[in-house]
Amino acid sequence: MSGEAIKKFLGNATTVAVVCNQWGDTGKGKFVDLLSGWADVIARGTGGANAGHTIRIGDRQHIFHLIPSGILRDTEGKINVIGSGTAFDPRAACEELAVLEKAGLSYGNLRIAHNARLVLPQHVVLDRVRESNAGGRVGTTGRGIGPVYADHYARVGLFVNDMLNPEVFARKLKQNLREKLTILRNYDPEVVRRVLEHPHAGGGRFWNKEAIFDTAAIMEAYREYGARLRVMVADTDSMVRTMREQGKHILLEGAQGNLLSVDIGTYPYVTSSDASVRALAQGVGLRERDVDLALGIVKAFYMTRVGEGPFPTEIGGAESAAWCNTSGITKATEEEQFPDADVNDAVPFRQGVGIRRAGAEYGATTGRPRRVGWLDLPLLRYSKHYTGQEVVLTKLDVLDACKEIKICTAYEYGGPDYQFGAETLRAGKKLEVAVPDTEVMAHCAPVYAAFPGWCIPIRSMRSHRELPKQLLDIIRFVEREADVHVRAVSVGPDREETIFAG
Ligand code: IMP
Repeated sequence: MSGEAIKKFLGNATTVAVVCNQWGDTGKGKFVDLLSGWADVIARGTGGANAGHTIRIGDRQHIFHLIPSGILRDTEGKINVIGSGTAFDPRAACEELAVLEKAGLSYGNLRIAHNARLVLPQHVVLDRVRESNAGGRVGTTGRGIGPVYADHYARVGLFVNDMLNPEVFARKLKQNLREKLTILRNYDPEVVRRVLEHPHAGGGRFWNKEAIFDTAAIMEAYREYGARLRVMVADTDSMVRTMREQGKHILLEGAQGNLLSVDIGTYPYVTSSDASVRALAQGVGLRERDVDLALGIVKAFYMTRVGEGPFPTEIGGAESAAWCNTSGITKATEEEQFPDADVNDAVPFRQGVGIRRAGAEYGATTGRPRRVGWLDLPLLRYSKHYTGQEVVLTKLDVLDACKEIKICTAYEYGGPDYQFGAETLRAGKKLEVAVPDTEVMAHCAPVYAAFPGWCIPIRSMRSHRELPKQLLDIIRFVEREADVHVRAVSVGPDREETIFAG
């Protein structure tokens, strides 16, 4: 992809955000990578080690959770930022830096916000013990994200900079632990001990039989992390603002997606940070209006979700949800049990497995199978209110062999009478824009439009002119029905496999 083509694509924009209009895992990483050659700064401002992207180093693939996708673009003047809005887990960061070190790669271009929210072992423990309560499961990634943001808003959180000041750290740690201990004493001590043995919670290093947490061990570990990371810790908010004022190119890398946002997503089955472009800008020290171009990534013409929560267009419905959320199911299990599942399978559950396999839809962070459904326009119409009209369609090639493509154009509500403000929602009501209220979403049946598939491989195509008519018809349908502009489409995982709108 030439620099000229990218410049033309971005027009006069100097601050560009790449966010997801769905439930994450839509291929943001490819676009961040594609644009990172253009950028002077690549910055994350939301989420934490719950995200995951694959980076190829030599002939090996590595999964990174925290470090921005642009880390390997170590050219002069280019920096990568983990911004103030993120949940920063120094254990995960040091592990990822060790991978780079081992490969002989430098990361001198990385800057970490002094005021990013600091993930501590008790956050990971609370996240995991809560998830062990079958009734209240969200299906989190177990990285401590919910508890760390909750502490931030409860004004008892710690910041990255606290690691650099051992006395301040000790005082704040003890205050933070006090309330956690009261909660954790209500759990089976054996469950708590087991969770503390998880590698993400210190692998047993922080466990103490009487006190639950060994505070001295936590202090020592965080002092070491601090010593290791100190040179990278900076006031990144000011740094990004200054670079913007100097006319530098700023690329903002979203995490998760609008529908997973705690503020605008399908609550409570969401992550605990706001994943919108507004939060992304704020999480790197900018205002939303500083973003010249927000690209909303949309996987098409299927979509995915990981964890629990309503998913009206899920192929295979409740059976698929139950299967994907059963612990221990992996790609290998599916291959063994459903070797012939296919994207055209007549049994919806198996068709879902077939599409998942074709799209390699297994979690980068957890290895879980992602639930698969058809593209949902009521959700896209809702989501685009927050990102704007500019969208990028990704993974179009996954459905190359699919004979019929279905698109959800509206919902029919089928639940009990539900008071929604002044309006009573009754069974039979048609909804064109999703209402992200679980009580409503759980009872929405999709209304579909069906289209013939294109049934030829499209990965080698490089212009709109080459794309099959059936595919272009569906793109136009989506643009018209959801009132969006498709600015680019991705026809394969490689950079070159991208077609910009003419
Ligand atoms: P948490 O962010 O670990 O608290 O998880 C809350 C919900 O968000 C769960 O359903 C996760 O599967 C989902 N989630 C968090 N991060 C990602 C992501 O990067 N992609 C997809 N789903 C995610």
